[in-house]
Amino acid sequence: MTAKIINGKEIASTVRKNIKEQVDRLKESGLTPGLAVILVGTDPASQVYVGSKEKACIEVGFHSEVYRLPEETTQEELLALIQKLNTDEKIHGILVQLPLPKHLDEKVVINAISPRKDVDGFHPLNAGALFVGEKGLVPCTPKGCIHLIKETGFDLKGKKAVVVGRSNIVGKPVAMLLLNENATVTICHSRTQNLKEELLQADVVVAAVGKPNFITGDMIKEGSVVIDVGINRLENGKLVGDVDFDSAKEKAGWITPVPGGVGPMTIAMLLQNTLEAAQNIMEN
Ligand code: GUN
Repeated sequence: MTAKIINGKEIASTVRKNIKEQVDRLKESGLTPGLAVILVGTDPASQVYVGSKEKACIEVGFHSEVYRLPEETTQEELLALIQKLNTDEKIHGILVQLPLPKHLDEKVVINAISPRKDVDGFHPLNAGALFVGEKGLVPCTPKGCIHLIKETGFDLKGKKAVVVGRSNIVGKPVAMLLLNENATVTICHSRTQNLKEELLQADVVVAAVGKPNFITGDMIKEGSVVIDVGINRLENGKLVGDVDFDSAKEKAGWITPVPGGVGPMTIAMLLQNTLEAAQNIMEN
């Protein structure tokens, strides 16, 4: 079988168009959703991501504020900025780009963001809401993965999903979302002893390990849906995922490419979360 390609770029573009239409209507009733993005330091990848987020906000008509702070910013300065944004009525979403420089405590910083403005869904209150199945803001990349699976028309109910990776940003939340869709979910990680055996039973694979071309076609069940969250740059400059695309596409039924798969969905879901946060804040 040669897999059908899940075109994340195209699906994300449809989401963004839809958001823009909703923003146009909201603006007529006097509400402009606003997102503040904070970048500390000069990490090259983070600079690119933050630039893309800023551009996407402007495109859909959001109010956008970007704070590019020097590497030596202190924890107190960063927390003071977050406090100011927490009470700023123009701002409905706050995102602190990770990773932070080593002298800053990521957990303390995330906990300082108002859960209502936590458009990354990283605050323990939002993570807990996802865990117990209550309403809250859901992390963008996992939300994008589910959106892509649904776009294929694949029904997750009762199917076996294997998540590879257990990070708080992707692995754990995507596993909870798959469970909420009634899939039977297994989380594999670096200590898993029988990864290939697990993967060969998977109707859906979500790969989020950060190892280039780690999952190969011989580990993929015929006809499965393969979602590749990895973005790895090889020494020759080429971007590849955690899944070896060429061999996996011969086994899978559906597969996301890298680039142009999950990546564009992360930003689309960030816009969606900001819109949701703005509507929630206005409603109560
Ligand atoms: N760094 C890598 N991915 C993410 C993300 O989804 N959100 C934030 N804030 N930082 C990141």
